[in-house]
Amino acid sequence: MSPDDLKTLVRTVPDFPAPGILFRDVTTLIGHGAGFAACIGHLAERTAAAGAEALAGMEARGFIFGAGAAARAGLGFLPVRKPGKLPVPTIGVDYALEYGQDRLEIDPTAVLAGQRIAIVDDLIATGGTALAAADLLRQAGAVVTHAFFVIDLPDLGGADRLRAAGLTVDALMQFP
Ligand code: PRP
Ligand code: HPA
Repeated sequence: MSPDDLKTLVRTVPDFPAPGILFRDVTTLIGHGAGFAACIGHLAERTAAAGAEALAGMEARGFIFGAGAAARAGLGFLPVRKPGKLPVPTIGVDYALEYGQDRLEIDPTAVLAGQRIAIVDDLIATGGTALAAADLLRQAGAVVTHAFFVIDLPDLGGADRLRAAGLTVDALMQFP
């Protein structure tokens, strides 16, 4: 299935999580066997073509796509976690979300010095989550040049923020 076909599998939910917001929901995409497989295939192909040596995905929805793409590409997966989840010393970054505030943490020993790690998430909105993940991975010694998403919401400016931070951004589909 092409990215255009996959776009038809994304459900749009009005007024979630607040009035006036059109929520792009990947539940329906991952629930479609052929669609999910094709989506993972596209991400795996693109991350491998970018020369990634490992993939990092952000909790929770980034785990679904990042882990799937990593396994398909034969790469390791690094989970970027919400606070208090990892059982070892972590480094963390606080960041602003479209609807609030959050924090991400990683195990810095999971990163090899100079390792080329690409970011994978379901969706980019303001870019705060992906920028925090890139910051953390770079603090731990990774070389982060690419970020991959299933969905880009370009009107929220996240992809432009990432490009301004020196990242190449690639999304399977956009919802302007
Ligand atoms: C959502 C989404 C991205 C992030 C995008 O995750 O999965 O990670 O927001 O927004 P941003 O570009 O404005 O940072 P959320 O924090 O809602 O967590 P979840 O995956 O656990 O639902
Ligand atoms: N859909 C899903 N996740 C999101 C969205 C959205 O529209 N905006 C920010 N995170």
